[in-house]
Amino acid sequence: MYDILTLNKIAACGTDNFDSKYNVSDSAADPDAILVRSAKMHDMEFGKKLLAIGRAGAGVNNIPVDKCAEQGIVVFNTPGANANAVKELVLTALLISSRRVPDAMVWAQSLKGNGDEVGAMVEKGKSQFVGPEIAGKTLGIIGLGAIGGLVANAAVALGMNVVGFDQFLSVNAALHLDPRVKTVSDPKDVYSVSDYVTIHVPYNPQTKGTVNADVISIMKDGARLINLARGELVDTAALLPALESGKIAAYVCDFPSEEILGVKNVIALPHLGASTPEAEDNCAVMAAKELIDYIENGNIRNSVNFPNASMQASGTKIVVLHKNVPSVISKVTDVLGSAGINIENMVNASKKEYACTLIDACGDIHSDIADKLGAVENVIRVRVIG
Ligand code: MLT
Repeated sequence: MYDILTLNKIAACGTDNFDSKYNVSDSAADPDAILVRSAKMHDMEFGKKLLAIGRAGAGVNNIPVDKCAEQGIVVFNTPGANANAVKELVLTALLISSRRVPDAMVWAQSLKGNGDEVGAMVEKGKSQFVGPEIAGKTLGIIGLGAIGGLVANAAVALGMNVVGFDQFLSVNAALHLDPRVKTVSDPKDVYSVSDYVTIHVPYNPQTKGTVNADVISIMKDGARLINLARGELVDTAALLPALESGKIAAYVCDFPSEEILGVKNVIALPHLGASTPEAEDNCAVMAAKELIDYIENGNIRNSVNFPNASMQASGTKIVVLHKNVPSVISKVTDVLGSAGINIENMVNASKKEYACTLIDACGDIHSDIADKLGAVENVIRVRVIG
């Protein structure tokens, strides 16, 4: 029996994937795996049994990813599972920031109590909320992954010119882009021409303050900025004077902070990007399936700290998580060879400092083989499945 700990409410269509081999609860004391949405895990101590964490969502800044890798805990996320939900909120952000919808709604409500005068007051006061159409304007997109790509194509369909930058643009993502989306190799060529800029990159130490004073200085006067990715991607200290001067006409942010709340032309949303039933279901199902495939088969798909690695095994599968350094694989195969174990198939993959080797092994596999492999220098964790 495997224990799955849920740290947030996870959609039932996701947890339903765990069959009778699993016990899913929000109180497991020593879980084999954890399912999480946005709960902060940086201060958590992880038990020795913990194999994996499934993040039902894209961002993993609530999880100590490197610490997990050191402890042989594979962290999964669900890229793309909530992309449509976020895309739809970006389109909402484009339109409401352009047409000044939030301020206009508040103003319209303020007319209550004026009886028959309301109609006339509306017609007299509405000019203060005039805002441009988005058709024919330029949308700049920083990050053309699952979300950025969908936003790009939808914006083209709405008649916008779209220019995007992605340092790590994958072939797959590029193939799915509408040919009318212009990609550039320097983000300055996005910021300098865009009437609207939207950011779709993960938050990490390298991307902190992606939109800073230098970037703002090259943006068009009156540009609108949309950040539904993570608050820290925008340098608030640089943003506030730009909002004050009108250099930035509006800032839509899904991650409000004390500094931006109540500031004129800020539209603050309460992290609603993925808050749709469809996205919650998609993320929960994808995260659960990733955990199950890893727990039962040792296959890794969509991990943020270990490489993708999958293999069908005809014999016993040995999963070795290790550092991505020379001679680990030869030492592992030496241990198996010395124990009279034949390797039928083997897959090795690496991601930055970490690697995974999956071995389909045949022979008399003694129970101490995991300990012997675990003693190899730079091996982090070993599992024998089957
Ligand atoms: C994500 O990272 O997937 C989105 O911000 C939504 C969420 O945090 O669940």
